[in-house]
Amino acid sequence: MPTTLSKLSSLIGDSPTLKINAAARALKAAGEPVVHLGGGEPTYPAPQSAVDAIIQKAQSRKIKYSPSSGTPAMKQAVIAYTEKYYGRRFEPANVLISAGAKQALFNFLLAAVTEGDEVIFAAPYWVSYPEMIKIAGGTPVCVRPTEGLQVKAQQILDAVTPKTKAILLNSPCNPSGQIYSEEFIKTIVEFAEKNDIFLVMDDIYHQLVFDGNKTPNPCQYAKEGNNMVIINGVSKLYGLTGLRIGWAVAKRNDLIAAMGRMQAQSTSCNSDLSEVAACAALMGDQSCIADLCRVLQDNRNTLLEEVEKIPHVKVQKPQGTFYCFVDFSYYNASSAELAQYLLEKALVAVVPGIAFGADGYLRISFCADKASIVEGVRRIRWALDKTAPRELKIGDKIITRD
Ligand SMILES: Cc1ncc(COP(=O)(O)O)c(C=O)c1O
Repeated sequence: MPTTLSKLSSLIGDSPTLKINAAARALKAAGEPVVHLGGGEPTYPAPQSAVDAIIQKAQSRKIKYSPSSGTPAMKQAVIAYTEKYYGRRFEPANVLISAGAKQALFNFLLAAVTEGDEVIFAAPYWVSYPEMIKIAGGTPVCVRPTEGLQVKAQQILDAVTPKTKAILLNSPCNPSGQIYSEEFIKTIVEFAEKNDIFLVMDDIYHQLVFDGNKTPNPCQYAKEGNNMVIINGVSKLYGLTGLRIGWAVAKRNDLIAAMGRMQAQSTSCNSDLSEVAACAALMGDQSCIADLCRVLQDNRNTLLEEVEKIPHVKVQKPQGTFYCFVDFSYYNASSAELAQYLLEKALVAVVPGIAFGADGYLRISFCADKASIVEGVRRIRWALDKTAPRELKIGDKIITRD
């Protein structure tokens, strides 16, 4: 008998989004004409500023360990970004640069949560929240909407107990694409500050918004904001997912220092190459963000047009991100079964809603190109329509439904 693995390892599940990406990639590698609408990254090319910086850095032939909590230049870039979008000026000691927003969030949980502490978040939620909270020894407390895709602020307040250590908000939200209202953010910010509960704003999509929408600025409603942690990164904003650079900004230096210790003792520091590229993206021409929003808004409109042709599904227009969270429960209450069926029969990858705490839904990404969006939804429609011909031609290939 091999020796046993840790108790923790048995408690932590796979990332369903990474799993679906791997399955779609494997099918593609085997030559199958898969349409991938499960992804979480814009296909947009990297900003030229980031590419130039990485080449210059590589050519210097100095690719070394970098300062553990981030380079001074990158911290200054994040300080300038935060001042521009949140209207608050921070110091370098308030900033931690990490390997993606994911590690920044993880560092926060490791630094702030003690065994038994509760962390509140709303469904539908980003797949990693419950697992990350569990790794940190905390208890995930999920608040579910009574209708639609958004919880009410009062529901969050009602979930607070003496054990609540943090409230975690993500707006616009992955997977729903919904933005919380000014009133919602104001209520939560004021409540968390008054009750000294950490408020973590996962703002990774805060600029990816459509139709003139604006993501409320939480700092506007904070007096001191000592309890607030703002998480962001370059992955979604510039399509630089591969760099793995994100950050946390918090007024409490002791929190940032503790998060920094978690990072220093685990990954040592960020990739030297990545950090200069991320810094250049932040300091470079920002028109790429507006361009990206235009493309995504257009893609969203196309996706909505196509999805609305599928009878019996319910859809709420995404206000931001690049995800649409569609209720397919009429066809199958098990989203995992439905997603598997669509991958096998229609060669379309989407992510089952159960991964986000909402079964019966499928998350369809619209960061793919338009042709893939149209083709993917056409195939979903065909796969669900029992009156359609059993066979569908895809290029030279014929796929057959049951
Ligand atoms: C809500 C949310 N937070 C954080 C992240 C992590 O982003 P990063 O690539 O910066 O680690 C993601 C990525 O999908 C996300 O959707």
